Amino acid sequence: MRVYLETFGCQMNELDSELVRGSLQSLGYQFVDDDAAAQVILYNTCSVRELAEQKALSRVGMVGVRKREGEELILGVLGCMAERDGLDMLRRHPQVDILCGPGELDRLPQLIDNVRRSRAGERAESRGVALAGNKSRRTSTLAAAEDGLESLDLSRAFDPSAREQPWSAYVRITRGCNKFCTYCVVPYTRGAEVHRPPDHIVEECRRLADAGAIEVTLLGQTVNHYRYVHGTALTVGGAEAPQVGPGLKAIRQPVPAGQRATTFAQLLRRIHDEVPAIRRLRFVTSYPHDFGPDVLETMRDCPRICRYLHAPAQSGSDAVLARMNRGYTVAEYEAFVARVFEWLPDATLAGDIIVGFPGETDADFEATCSLVRRLPFKNNFIFKYSPRPGTVAIDRFADDVPDEVKRLRNNQLLAIQGETSARVHTGWVGKCVDVLFDQVRARDRADVAPAGVSLRIGGAPIGSAPVERSWQAVGRTPGDLIVAVDVESEEAARAWLGRIAAVRVTDASSLLLRGLIESAAVS
Ligand code: SAH
Ligand code: SF4
Ligand code: F3S
Repeated sequence: MRVYLETFGCQMNELDSELVRGSLQSLGYQFVDDDAAAQVILYNTCSVRELAEQKALSRVGMVGVRKREGEELILGVLGCMAERDGLDMLRRHPQVDILCGPGELDRLPQLIDNVRRSRAGERAESRGVALAGNKSRRTSTLAAAEDGLESLDLSRAFDPSAREQPWSAYVRITRGCNKFCTYCVVPYTRGAEVHRPPDHIVEECRRLADAGAIEVTLLGQTVNHYRYVHGTALTVGGAEAPQVGPGLKAIRQPVPAGQRATTFAQLLRRIHDEVPAIRRLRFVTSYPHDFGPDVLETMRDCPRICRYLHAPAQSGSDAVLARMNRGYTVAEYEAFVARVFEWLPDATLAGDIIVGFPGETDADFEATCSLVRRLPFKNNFIFKYSPRPGTVAIDRFADDVPDEVKRLRNNQLLAIQGETSARVHTGWVGKCVDVLFDQVRARDRADVAPAGVSLRIGGAPIGSAPVERSWQAVGRTPGDLIVAVDVESEEAARAWLGRIAAVRVTDASSLLLRGLIESAAVS
């Protein structure tokens, strides 16, 4: 059967889609790039903002039209929106055949098979549902040990063609989240924080490296909360199993006497030392609290760990941070950033910010602007607050910042971030950086012509001369700064894909650095 799979949302979802694809391919399903050619259509959805859900819903609507016109399609909605909306979704959208939450993806092949068999008249019911529901906030390690999801991560296809960029891969170290920021659906859709056994993670990294990955990004919603206490969560055969996280209080305590634990810093060091073929070991997303000196020391001492932190501030106002339940103050966030740059002077910092959170005054917003001016954020993703059903904020606080004000604040902050990015980027001019190339970019001559010289009139190329193009190889530094290098042809740009070069930075803008290749880097 031919399957079309489209992914919305975060890197967790991208990894989930890769795993789903691998497990269905191993059962003989064929993946197609065009939904018109598919018999099974799967949307792996995101629920983090309303807009993300609307995008997926409009696709679901279009499949509904095709089904009403008589096409025999199987439509599956996977991921966070399936989990959040649950059975309401089935009621409102009769064209949906399968709902599968992010914690149940190991059951997807069975769900598809059931729908096929019921269509063939072998079974009665025709819709399949696998949602974690109230199971999603499991408290016992035993329940986590029974976690079928681990088998999905473990059955990963290491074939480089499984990934769009074979040189780069994600590895999950923690699932779920225990933080409960008041605006956020993730603790409800992905469930409790569960840590994977370190041996599983290291082995996965090793097999990815054997299959050609030179960059691995470790994933967790609060990735620095990783901690695995050995000997407490075992499977029937005695092997270690995923383990429910210890909760915030416990993570701030030392490991009790007599217990052996693998901390996040120790996990980083193990992967760095045991899989040296990984030239870039990265991790997202860091929670600004609980980021110990042991992690910074490990980052300083291990050259292949990228000195890059995505550690969202969310707001620059203490009052807003408290209502968000972020658990830190602006001063604490700044002290954390100062510590990072003391240990790692060449680190880069990025984050996320929400504007228009309930009750955000002009003064609160100004405090956020000031934070973005003061700290060296290379970039920030800026979001307008979106009230999400099921969260604490939607019940507790009125969404009282008008949309127009949210939009203005969003634009104003983007402009300030642009200035900060330009300043951070300018600091790299003249330096030599390693760049891992991952994009080929074409620009027509009109874009690159010097000011005052126009090759186009009214948008159309003059005469019938073919549009001349210039080519760039584009990649990222270990600190995730984007670097563009001019090359002579498309082939030359393609030849750099997946390779690392030393690049001398010649100039900078708010969006990227430009430079000249000095040499192909050797390890
Ligand atoms: N675990 C990560 C982020 C997960 S969601 C962390 O804690 O940093 C990614 C980002 O989406 C968040 O950092 C936040 O900035 C944004 N976000 C989450 N819920 C939102 C909401 N209801 N409205 C607007 N933005 C939201
Ligand atoms: Fe959401 Fe907060 Fe958890 Fe991040 S830390 S996933 S923002 S609840
Ligand atoms: Fe979206 Fe779920 Fe990721 S809500 S951001 S897909 S964890």
